Amino acid sequence: MSRTWLITGTSSGIGRKLAEHVLSGGGRVAATVRNPGALDDLKAQYGEALWIGVVDVTDTLRLRAIVDDAFAAMGRIDVVVSNAGYGALGALEEFTDEQIDRQIATNFTASAQLARAVIPHLRRQGGGHYLQVSSALGQTASPTTAIYSATKGAVEGRGEGMGMEVASFGIKVTIVEPGAARTDFGSRSADAAAPLDVYADTAVGQVRARAATYEIKGDPAKMAAAIADCVAAESPPLRLLLGSDAWPRVTAVLQARLDSYRAQRDVALSTDF
Ligand SMILES: NC(=O)c1ccc[n+]([C@@H]2O[C@H](COP(=O)([O-])OP(=O)(O)OC[C@H]3O[C@@H](n4cnc5c(N)ncnc54)[C@H](OP(=O)(O)O)[C@@H]3O)[C@@H](O)[C@H]2O)c1
Repeated sequence: MSRTWLITGTSSGIGRKLAEHVLSGGGRVAATVRNPGALDDLKAQYGEALWIGVVDVTDTLRLRAIVDDAFAAMGRIDVVVSNAGYGALGALEEFTDEQIDRQIATNFTASAQLARAVIPHLRRQGGGHYLQVSSALGQTASPTTAIYSATKGAVEGRGEGMGMEVASFGIKVTIVEPGAARTDFGSRSADAAAPLDVYADTAVGQVRARAATYEIKGDPAKMAAAIADCVAAESPPLRLLLGSDAWPRVTAVLQARLDSYRAQRDVALSTDF
């Protein structure tokens, strides 16, 4: 079945591969970008099947207007993907205030505002599927990812709660949790904190030393295909974990968390009146 998608952050990486996957399969895409020329090649290839909206997702008023324009232009949008985001990477203490504010505004606030903007449309048309691109780092954290993981953990909580709120309107929610993928995430898009010398001999310094040789295996085109398969599934999962690095890491962290909670059972049950 050919569907119509709205995808944010389609200039590169996962968003771009997803737009290409949908268009090449005969679907239609309302794609948002910051740089108006970023999709010229796809526009030339796919014409009317591709609608382009220019927006910085942190501009809430413009984001709302773009969402309204996209629904007006496409008639109906079956799938919405909140994908735009980036990583502010470094030790918590190393960031400027502005870096922290911008990370939260982009990864968390903008995705919440996108959801708030699309829900009334999806409700009125009788349903749809909302996908939130989180990260394996939304379920786990590492030295240098405290702020990034915080924003991705926040979109997980928002997506899960929102999914329960809108289920009876026929709106499905899936939280996509990719592991490391070969996109512009670690290069052009990354916002690295200025390192403080005191962290050189800590876990932060070790992560930085390893980063230079870390092999990123995730293929964004295969991730895009897996996301599209998830949308086509009879019962899509609430969480879609992608990547050979992500799966063992997240399952191990969650198992350890469960073991720890189980060991605390008596304490937990002892604190009632
Ligand atoms: N690659 C990974 O290892 C990885 C792993 C887990 C999760 N993710 C998540 O996957 C999503 C896509 O990232 P990617 O890996 O595909 O990286 P990417 O190639 O850098 O793509 C990021 C996209 O987000 C857009 N974007 C960033 N800030 C924006 C803003 N304020 N307004 C509008 N658009 C904005 C970028 O637009 P511009 O071209 O204008 O900058 C770009 O289109 C992100 O949410 C990221 O956190 C990535």
